[in-house]
Amino acid sequence: MTWFTKFLSSSLGKKLLMALTGLFLILFLAVHLTGNLQLLKDDGGKSFNVYAEFMSTNPLVQTISKGNFAFILIHAVYALIITVQNRKARGPVGYAQTSGKSSIWASRNMGILGTLILIFLVVHLKHFWAEMHFGSVPTVNIDGKEVRDLAGIVNYWFHVEWYVALYVFCMAALGFHLWHGFASAFQTLGLNHLKYNGLISFVGRAFAIIVPALFAAIPLLMFFDISF
Ligand code: HEM
Repeated sequence: MTWFTKFLSSSLGKKLLMALTGLFLILFLAVHLTGNLQLLKDDGGKSFNVYAEFMSTNPLVQTISKGNFAFILIHAVYALIITVQNRKARGPVGYAQTSGKSSIWASRNMGILGTLILIFLVVHLKHFWAEMHFGSVPTVNIDGKEVRDLAGIVNYWFHVEWYVALYVFCMAALGFHLWHGFASAFQTLGLNHLKYNGLISFVGRAFAIIVPALFAAIPLLMFFDISF
């Protein structure tokens, strides 16, 4: 065993990996949301389709995407290992504890919340990502260029009741997961300081409310055919 693999299997190494991958995934969520908000533009899906075509064909984005999938896998597998080890040791949950009722509830249920998000991801990736990369998405002509109509696929699913309900429910789970995870990641990385704790906590909680709420608003608004 090298020092690196030894470190990764240590308790601190596992928590650090969870925190770093978690922070990367938080960054991904912010970028993903910005792109997806284009679905709400009243332009027949044009802006979103141009964006999606760029994201699914650009080599640099595709390399980052592979890293993104690896980070999701590492984050989920290590979460499972930490949870099992803590259950065996009957110790506290493998995340740093923070104060507040909702924080304690979220920290105790990070495993369940994470599992819900994982189930959401399997459904989500099957219908959108796999369709874009391995399916036969019809094309539309945008400014003389044939572009796959991913907006049409999203629009179809966001008019299916159970699908919209699943998204809204899972975004609530994502909110609770982020509510605890954001501050916990900073604490694990040792980036907590009495002077900045208040700010980190505020930014984390604002992110945990605003980002999932906007993600949930997209299917809801599309379901009722509301665009801007
Ligand atoms: C309104 C909500 C959402 C919409 C409309 C949406 C839409 C999409 C679409 C169309 C793709 C395929 C893009 C492509 O491959 O070119 C995609 C990929 C993906 N989505 Fe979402 N998404 C939403 C929410 C989320 C959430 C909340 C998460 C995470 C919890 C998420 C995680 C992912 C991941 C990991 C990928 C694969 C990205 C990659 O290729 O690296 N999405 N999404």
